[in-house]
Amino acid sequence: MAWDPQAYATHAAFVPALGSAVLDLLAPKAGERILDLGCGDGVLTERLVATGATVVGIDADSTMVAAAVAKGLDVAVGDGRRLAFDAEFDAVFSNAALHWMGEPAPVVAGVFRALKPGGRFVGEFGGHGNIAAIRVAVRAVLAARGYRVPAQEDNYYPTAEAYRAALEAAGFVVDSCAIIPRPTPIASGMGAWLQTFRGGFIDAAGVPPDKRGQVIEDTRAMLRPILADASGNWIADYVRLRFAAHKPE
Ligand code: BEZ
Repeated sequence: MAWDPQAYATHAAFVPALGSAVLDLLAPKAGERILDLGCGDGVLTERLVATGATVVGIDADSTMVAAAVAKGLDVAVGDGRRLAFDAEFDAVFSNAALHWMGEPAPVVAGVFRALKPGGRFVGEFGGHGNIAAIRVAVRAVLAARGYRVPAQEDNYYPTAEAYRAALEAAGFVVDSCAIIPRPTPIASGMGAWLQTFRGGFIDAAGVPPDKRGQVIEDTRAMLRPILADASGNWIADYVRLRFAAHKPE
């Protein structure tokens, strides 16, 4: 899925804004060398740099990388499933990105290799049941309008047990790994959210560009009784998986 940095900064500012808990869990120290895996436009990367750490970011999306580079950050295009770093980081950090990288084994193995002995892997991403109501509603609307509904979802949303097992299989010692339901206010509204985050999924179902708006409007209408509060404010059914692990000395 290709991102639009302008739309992301406008409609998805809550993503990095809600990253404080996982930043606290990382507890970066001045002088540490940290990899920000899936850094996007670099909003949290900047916060890591502000702690005095030396931070390298990678992201699969070149437009988001360009937005991060424009902030003066050391960021490059890279695939989280093919990390080529070798024992050079004190920590690898990741917020709201691992669910875009598919099966965990190649990602977690690359992170393990990238860390120095004792290095930390700390992150947060979508966990089992993430945005379930939204996903079901999009699928129901696509089916009702006669579009192809992809058999598989395009995101990886594991249980805590499954992700812990993936970390341990790669050699990590897991310090914490938990599912955290996080109802998330969507200030821009559900239409903008669907455009920003589900546009690629809707396109992949074969919806022509001039029909995308109808699918989004139907999905909004289906979700309103479930996810809008009495005042009409949207609250999305986010579920996070937050974890901290380390590579043995
Ligand atoms: C998330 O969990 O951060 C997310 C995943 C896919 C689409 C939108 C948000």
